[in-house]
Amino acid sequence: MMSESMTGLKRSCRCAEVTEAQVGQELTLMGWVQKSRNKGGLIFTDLRDRSGIIQIIFEEKDCGSECFAKAERIKSEFTIAVTGTVALRSGTSEVNSAVNESLKTGTIEVRATSLRILSESEVPPFPVEENSKTREDLRLKYRYLDLRRPDLQRNIMTRSRVTTLVRQFMSEEGFLEIETPTLIKSTPEGARDYLVPSRVHPGSFYALPQSPQLLKQLLMCSGFDRYFQIARCYRDEDLRADRQPEFTQIDMEMSFVDVEDVLEVNERLLKKLFKEICDFDIELPIRRMTWQEAMDRYGSDKPDLRFGMELKNVSDVVKGCEFAVFQNALSSGGSVRGINARGQAGMPRKKIDALVEYAKGFGAKGLAYLAVQEDGSYKCSFSKFMKDEELKALVAAMDGEPGDLLLFAADKNSVVYDVLGNLRLELARKLELLRKDDFQFLWVTEFPLLEYSEEEGRFVAKHHPFTMPMEEDLSLLDTAPGAVRAKAYDIVLNGTELGGGSVRIHQSDIQEKMFQVLGFTEERAKEQFGFLLDAFQYGVPPHAGLAYGLDRVVMLMVGADSIRDVIAFPKVKDASCMLMEAPAEVEKRQLDELGIAVVDHTEE
Ligand code: AMO
Ligand code: AMP
Repeated sequence: MMSESMTGLKRSCRCAEVTEAQVGQELTLMGWVQKSRNKGGLIFTDLRDRSGIIQIIFEEKDCGSECFAKAERIKSEFTIAVTGTVALRSGTSEVNSAVNESLKTGTIEVRATSLRILSESEVPPFPVEENSKTREDLRLKYRYLDLRRPDLQRNIMTRSRVTTLVRQFMSEEGFLEIETPTLIKSTPEGARDYLVPSRVHPGSFYALPQSPQLLKQLLMCSGFDRYFQIARCYRDEDLRADRQPEFTQIDMEMSFVDVEDVLEVNERLLKKLFKEICDFDIELPIRRMTWQEAMDRYGSDKPDLRFGMELKNVSDVVKGCEFAVFQNALSSGGSVRGINARGQAGMPRKKIDALVEYAKGFGAKGLAYLAVQEDGSYKCSFSKFMKDEELKALVAAMDGEPGDLLLFAADKNSVVYDVLGNLRLELARKLELLRKDDFQFLWVTEFPLLEYSEEEGRFVAKHHPFTMPMEEDLSLLDTAPGAVRAKAYDIVLNGTELGGGSVRIHQSDIQEKMFQVLGFTEERAKEQFGFLLDAFQYGVPPHAGLAYGLDRVVMLMVGADSIRDVIAFPKVKDASCMLMEAPAEVEKRQLDELGIAVVDHTEE
């Protein structure tokens, strides 16, 4: 392998920063060889760096025979330094190449006068090119090569622009950037913690923070009144396209504020970010919807507003009919709701069956359908249980027109919402209703404070235990905890929860009450959250805040399908890093120091 040094060389600029205005100038460029073709007396080399590509031409009469011989050896992914003169491609010389419209530097090229091979490259395991078709596990193993691809380079550069803009905006608004520790105490509630064993205190563990929540509340107690942080968070939960075990939050907290103040400053932040990055104008104020309305109309607490197909509650319309499926749902306190897939009456049986199967994946026992044919007649999976006028009333309630396909779910409300909410999205994907350059923002407010966990046999906090109940619902904490609404809000974009936050409890009596409702004994609350309860004894300002998932924000901005595409070194589904092969076993000596013995579970 041959590697030459940089001694005496200085890079003039990046490859794609060269413009026609520099024609005739000599400059030095450095980067990676995208490809190099030898056409007899001429070698055409595409040189790439993070700015893009420029074409280099080696010709013996310009660069000399030694340089030309060296240029004959260069291959894809070699790093090279080239000095040469900028020339117009459409120039008069017969060896000028054709203009390449698809390249930013497509009207110019650099006629090399000297070349250094800074380092050679093996043949890469996959070509470094836009929109790679290479398997993701291979790309992640060689992530450093994958990251050379222009699409990933753009994503990572956009991410950097976003954090820069956030810092700029937040500091202009008087927020202080304050770091909080990442070795903290494990607290129950929420997802599973990642634990870090202590060497100095054998048998004791730190936890990596799931968010800076408690620490930012303490910062409010300390008087920093506007805090933000671009914070790394860790949650040991099942991964999905929009979830990673470690991810980044744009986290903020404000003192002496209520819901409106938090929403207002965040609307301006979002407006600035989407204007600068996507050239998209968010119309302010952003739409708002209560959690209940979102569930009733879209079957989801993060509705995608890029299309309609809203849910309709037809319980009242079908309450007198004899269809047992509908009757059973209604008599056990559930509901019958439907969606209207406009123009889909002609959907073949096979596709409808696939939708039924899809619905079953979300807990549906079945999916009843009714197609209004072009001649006005009905094709219906439950017609034999219904009278003609009952069907007619149902179609009218659904605004069914000839050509429409009506789909119904009957069950307890939570299942009906989940089934139809997801079916609505599935249909939108199948019918290609989702445009990536359309950004439909929504605040979802008045979330339930608590939800009942069948698994634990108790109420758990829907957001976290520090969220303030709505004042008018406070008295329900004792009598009907499930009905208490919270001063909590989520910011939703195109069906993804971008961020969420709440007004916090700042009164120790309400906080204690909350722990009670969550089933904590006084001792356990003290043991887990004593420092917060103590802090609340010394003058605590009313405060509220919010955190965005930065990865999700950037994912939607660049139109990526997964947050993996906007994280430099992401983890895969089983939470491992393919590149470093983490997690990995450690030496026995390290475990001994920590007082840890590993139990072998492989035989179980
Ligand atoms: P929450 O738990 O809703 O709130 O998290 C805030 C935002 O963080 C993002 N997020 C994730 N992104 C990627 N991978 C994950 N595993 C993951 N989990 C969450 C989401 C989410 O909206 N402390 C509170 C905020 C507050 O009340 O101020 C909190 O963490 O985009
Ligand atoms: P069956 O009487 O089982 O043939 O059901 C008649 C129709 O009702 C079929 O199209 C089923 O898929 C549908 N169905 C069954 N259970 C439900 C349910 N819980 N909600 C909506 N439709 C259902």
